[in-house]
Amino acid sequence: MPQETNIMDPINSKPETVQLVKRLIREYLRPYAGLLALAFLFMMIAAAMNASVALLIKPILDGVLNVESEGQMVWTVAGLVIVTFLFRGTTTYAHTVLMNKISQSIVADIQHHLFGKFMDMDLSFFHDNPSGQLISRVINDVNVMRTAVSDAMTGLGKSFLTLLFLIGVMVYQDWQLSIAAFVIMPFAVAFVAWIGRRLRKVSGSIQDEMAGLSDMLSQIFQGIRQVKAYGMEDYEQKRAGKAIDKVCSLNMKSVRIGNLSTPVNEILVGIIMAGIIGYGGTQVSSGEMTGGELGSFLAAFVMAYEPMKRLAQLNNKLQTGLGAAERVFALMDRDITIFDVATPYTLNENKPNIVFNNVEFQYEGTDVKALNKISFIAESGKVLALVGPSGGGKSTVINLIPRFYDTQSGTVEINGHNLKEVSLNSLRRHIALVSQDITIFDDTVSNNIRYSKPDATQEEIEEAARMAYAHDFISNMSDGYDTMLGEDGVRLSGGQKQRISIARAVLRDAPILLLDEATSALDNESEQAVQKALEELQHGRTTIVIAHRLSTVQNADKIVVLDKGEIVEQGSHVELLKANGMYAKMYHAGLN
Ligand SMILES: Nc1ncnc2c1ncn2[C@@H]1O[C@H](COP(=O)(O)OP(=O)(O)OP(=O)(O)O)[C@@H](O)[C@H]1O
Ligand SMILES: [Mg+2]
Repeated sequence: MPQETNIMDPINSKPETVQLVKRLIREYLRPYAGLLALAFLFMMIAAAMNASVALLIKPILDGVLNVESEGQMVWTVAGLVIVTFLFRGTTTYAHTVLMNKISQSIVADIQHHLFGKFMDMDLSFFHDNPSGQLISRVINDVNVMRTAVSDAMTGLGKSFLTLLFLIGVMVYQDWQLSIAAFVIMPFAVAFVAWIGRRLRKVSGSIQDEMAGLSDMLSQIFQGIRQVKAYGMEDYEQKRAGKAIDKVCSLNMKSVRIGNLSTPVNEILVGIIMAGIIGYGGTQVSSGEMTGGELGSFLAAFVMAYEPMKRLAQLNNKLQTGLGAAERVFALMDRDITIFDVATPYTLNENKPNIVFNNVEFQYEGTDVKALNKISFIAESGKVLALVGPSGGGKSTVINLIPRFYDTQSGTVEINGHNLKEVSLNSLRRHIALVSQDITIFDDTVSNNIRYSKPDATQEEIEEAARMAYAHDFISNMSDGYDTMLGEDGVRLSGGQKQRISIARAVLRDAPILLLDEATSALDNESEQAVQKALEELQHGRTTIVIAHRLSTVQNADKIVVLDKGEIVEQGSHVELLKANGMYAKMYHAGLN
């Protein structure tokens, strides 16, 4: 098969193209080899039926229409015509359905793989690649690949065979005339090749622009509140409009280039046909050829035009498909930076001590360290509070514990086990996280809470909601626990979202509790309620809590003050007040 593909793709014998095609065949086409063989069989029959239509022209002209022939011939030929078309129709249907079965399945396989890969990627990958672009890769590029695979296979199978059989008919009727008719072929092939090369480039830009457009749209829809509040509708309309027009004009460019082959081929075919008629006509009148033979030859030539055109465009499709495959594989081949070591330690601790040892961390693409030589101990069963100015590195410390990022130097350890040597799965099972940005899925309240423990019973969910002081407002909603919450929880207030996410943490029942600004969006009354819930939740767990209001951290066993990525001081509330440093200043400034 790879050789065949090269024949059809004479232009791009570039090694990476060959690699790409080989990879597509090896990873995605091979599982369907059996189905493909069956499809090819049907294509072969359909192609042969096409050729026999041309063959039948001779008996029709020379036999049926010849007054000297016997009536018997009429019915034989008519019968043959019915059989031919019957076979042609059914086999065409069969190979079309089969080819679609194959190409649709390949699309699904690629989408499964791609999505699986995305799920394994670490957070920094999603910071580099906006969600709209990833969606576009999974939907648009993969779809372009599907068309290419389907057209390439059908082209190779049906068009190529049909052409071959029809050339057979022509050679059978008059071999000299056939050679004359096809000397022109190499020129046409060279032209088509040139078009294909240009088209691949344009198609790459189209897919990139589409990815940019879908990313822009998803950002605008997500930020629709801001758009409206600041009256930016016109601005966004212009911005999106520009991208839409760009995609449109690139598509037109690709249509103009891609269809250049049509006028050139039409002219060529016209010239050749005129030649055949001229030369063949003299042959018939001199008796060297029957009218039926010339008719059959002409029919075969005219019928060969369609598969030839398809083969010419096949290269275009192939080039755009390969471009898409390149982009999809580039994503699939991205290195995962956070993964399990070869034989990871399975963490199983009831009383985890978390130790930061000279930890340094810098986000990719920034030139300052977000954390610089951070050392502290969060003792098991106790509460450690992180405080300090905005941007000090508090959330970053918390991000290192579930290994959303890995330290660049220094270690984070749980009961002496370096997190880099612990299996991600077992590590994350130990953690319940209430983060700064709460995600609510467009699903029922129950399912949103259940997210942290998929096998939780309804009783457990309601118990968790009660603990998080969420049960009352949930019960008041139209469908109670079955209420759909809308995209990003549009139907909830900020404080309600937080209580849902606290209920998730309660349900998780993990020995490590990470709270990032857990109470920032609450009014006084619900803050007190939630604070109580959190205190109950913290009981017996190793807790690291970030809070801007110092009143909420006074009872912490230890307070760590972070500023510009460094620990300025640490100790209990009383100790820090006595030390009269940054904490005392913040406290007295009334930030409590
Ligand atoms: N994904 C990221 N990529 C690059 N830089 C980041 C990223 N996240 C945070 N930073 C930077 O790292 C530094 C520490 O940020 P961090 O979120 O830890 O601060 P914080 O103490 O939690 O602040 P706040 O109190 O406002 O939540 C900041 O300078 C911030 O700009
Ligand atoms: Mg933060």
